[in-house]
Amino acid sequence: MNSEQLIAQAITARERAYAPYSHYRVGAAVLTADGRVFTGCNVENAVYPLTICAERVAITKAVSEGAREIVAVAVVTENGGTPCGSCRQVIREFGQPDTPIYVAQPDGHYRQFTLEHLLPESFSAADLGKA
Ligand code: THU
Repeated sequence: MNSEQLIAQAITARERAYAPYSHYRVGAAVLTADGRVFTGCNVENAVYPLTICAERVAITKAVSEGAREIVAVAVVTENGGTPCGSCRQVIREFGQPDTPIYVAQPDGHYRQFTLEHLLPESFSAADLGKA
C-alpha cells in the first residue's frame, strides 16, 4: 500500500461524503499496522455541531474493527485543506509523531506532512504515563 493507493481510497470515500450544509466534501483513508485500510467521509447533521469529520469516521471504524495502530493517513479535500485540530489530536491517539499524512486534492496531487509537523509538541498517552 503506497501513498497513491491510500489517496485513491480516500478519493473514493470522498464521493460518499454527506455534506449538504457546507458542500465541503472530505474523504479519508487510514492504513493500520496490520495492513488494513479504513475509509471515511464527513457526515454532517442539521444540528451542525454533530457533524463528524472524515478522518474521525475512518479512525473510529478502524478502532471498532480492532485496529489501534495507524501508520499512514490520507485526506482528500477540494482545495488541499489540511485536517482540523480535533482530527490531528485523534490521529495522535493512534499514530506517532512521524506518521505520514498525505493531504490530497481530487486530482491526486498531494502534499506530504508528518503528524509532528501538523501537531507539534502534542499531548498524548505518554504524558499520562500510559504509553
Ligand atoms: N471536515 C472534515 O471532514 N475534516 C477536516 O479535517 C476538516 C473539516 C469537514 C467537516 C464539515 O463537514 C466540513 O468539512 C466543513 O467544515
